[in-house]
Amino acid sequence: MTLKLGIIGTNWITKMFVEAALATKQYELVAVYSRTEAKGQDFTTNFAGDQAVWTDLNDFLQSGIDVVYIASPNSLHFEQAYAAIEAGVNVIVEKSAFDNPEQYEKIYSLLQKNPTVKLFEAARHIYQDNFKIIEQKVNQMAHISGATFVYEKYSSRFDDYLAGKKPNVLSREFSAGALADLGVYPLYAAIKLFGLPDDQFYFATLLDNGADGRGTVILRYPKFDVTLIFGKSANSYELSEIHGRRDTIVIDNIAELGEVKYDDGQGNVTVISQPAPDNPMVQEAEFFANILQNKLQTPNDYEEATILSQKVNLVLTKLRHSAGIKFPSDQ
Ligand SMILES: NC(=O)c1ccc[n+]([C@@H]2O[C@H](COP(=O)([O-])OP(=O)(O)OC[C@H]3O[C@@H](n4cnc5c(N)ncnc54)[C@H](OP(=O)(O)O)[C@@H]3O)[C@@H](O)[C@H]2O)c1
Repeated sequence: MTLKLGIIGTNWITKMFVEAALATKQYELVAVYSRTEAKGQDFTTNFAGDQAVWTDLNDFLQSGIDVVYIASPNSLHFEQAYAAIEAGVNVIVEKSAFDNPEQYEKIYSLLQKNPTVKLFEAARHIYQDNFKIIEQKVNQMAHISGATFVYEKYSSRFDDYLAGKKPNVLSREFSAGALADLGVYPLYAAIKLFGLPDDQFYFATLLDNGADGRGTVILRYPKFDVTLIFGKSANSYELSEIHGRRDTIVIDNIAELGEVKYDDGQGNVTVISQPAPDNPMVQEAEFFANILQNKLQTPNDYEEATILSQKVNLVLTKLRHSAGIKFPSDQ
């Protein structure tokens, strides 16, 4: 049986997710929601088969879909996910899922009242085999001295910002900015590998509109610190590293996970990664489908993913507040 998939948001990331979902053979795309009929119809031309296009969210959610992939601006995730859960539709919501723990709490309460519905945050990198390889290696290391994760890419939307426009992804109004966008990847990696930090600090470089264009986070753990460097206003080619004593895991890119090496500090360097998949969303799409189709390999997978997502949300919010960055939903 395939899952009947509906999508919200018609940008390139949705196309990539649908291609990943179809590649797993566990989904069929049946419904597209867009604010405009023309954009919705245009999106369907990327795919074979018949898809209904909806411009009314409730009609879309009532159209018989099993699961919705939400890739709208962050500030819309909460109300769209809430409406989907109320309609009995499973949710895959793009990162960052929700603005703050208050929103998460409301979603969580609603899920408790609708126990057949599941919600996932699409943090694609942690579902990749290369992330699991890193996790296994970290667990084998005798000692952790610290880590530095870097993800900094100049965004074409930064050109728009410089031209005086208001791109959603660099705007507090849409619950966006460097931390909520690219910063989520290194933060997810840190919390998945090392758990919740004892304390956290965010040194943000703010744009004229009050959103963060780039920044540095320090996560303090009892015996080490983890530094996260990310942004949308410059390109960085720095590696990410996890430090043991002599030994080091060296990662080309903490969000893309193209190549991972283990350097034992005694002259031996081994590539421990596998070739990265062409579409980085296939493994998450497979994970979500397996859970929705009750093909669980480990009974706690879903609960663990949910708890991790909530922890990331909590730390993300603390970091944002520590830098004085407010979103409209914080009021
Ligand atoms: N996992 C990844 O690798 C990855 C990569 C990129 C983005 N993302 C995530 O995907 C989500 C979307 O990001 P994006 O950069 O694609 O956002 P975006 O371009 O600002 O908007 C995405 C879609 O939402 C709709 N939309 C745009 N502005 C809107 C508005 N003012 N009100 C209502 N709907 C609006 C549009 O669809 P219609 O015009 O058809 O309604 C648009 O295609 C974010 O949560 C982001 O973090 C994830």
